[in-house]
Amino acid sequence: MTWKNPLANNLQWSSDISNKEAKQKVATRLAERVKDGDIIGVGSGSTAFLAIQSIAKKIKEENLKILAIPTSHEVALTCSILGIPTTSLASAKPDWAFDGADEVDPHNHLIKGRGGAMFHEKLVIASSNETYILVDHSKFVEKLGSKHPVPLEVDPRAVHLVETCLESFEVSSVDLRMAQSKDGPVLTEAGHIILDVRFNHIEPGLEKELSSIPGVIESGLFQGYNINLMS
Ligand code: 5RP
Repeated sequence: MTWKNPLANNLQWSSDISNKEAKQKVATRLAERVKDGDIIGVGSGSTAFLAIQSIAKKIKEENLKILAIPTSHEVALTCSILGIPTTSLASAKPDWAFDGADEVDPHNHLIKGRGGAMFHEKLVIASSNETYILVDHSKFVEKLGSKHPVPLEVDPRAVHLVETCLESFEVSSVDLRMAQSKDGPVLTEAGHIILDVRFNHIEPGLEKELSSIPGVIESGLFQGYNINLMS
């Protein structure tokens, strides 16, 4: 007897998806480029979620075999529910990857990490030969930081050190990201905290400067990555 996954038809994003129609269109276009045998890095967030669903539909209809490299446990679970086999960066290199973004500037520099998965997302993007960033019109900005802070994933033991180091940057606010219930900080999958930092200016070298602060695991700034924008 074939086992039918009861969750497969009820899979839903946790909250309302903003600009869902635009996100769905770009997700559907992304799925068209999936080929048999592809190893695909899969980003996190609602746009990536819609893309995974479109990809699952295509591989089912065309009987394709692919392997996904998920960027979070949530994405891994979604892939598993949809019957998409997964592997990890430790075992395979992605042929290509896709992901969403919170902000994109005219140089294709990004802010990511509203979902807190930017460390793993950066590893996957940096490991892929080709990356597609799926965005709707609300993500385009003239200057990075216009709408969103830059998230920093920080080892909890380094919180004061990192805050002190940030004083040498032109920063207007540093906020510890709290859980929705407000009863504690958000912890990443690796057990780190997130500091949401508003910089007065975001210059081209900022990503490297931030990653040189002891205790900063990774930032949500993506400057100078070879990405293809899909909107
Ligand atoms: C998660 C991310 C997301 O890709 C980013 O927040 C965009 O999310 P959405 O597609 O839901 O608008 O970086 O860490």
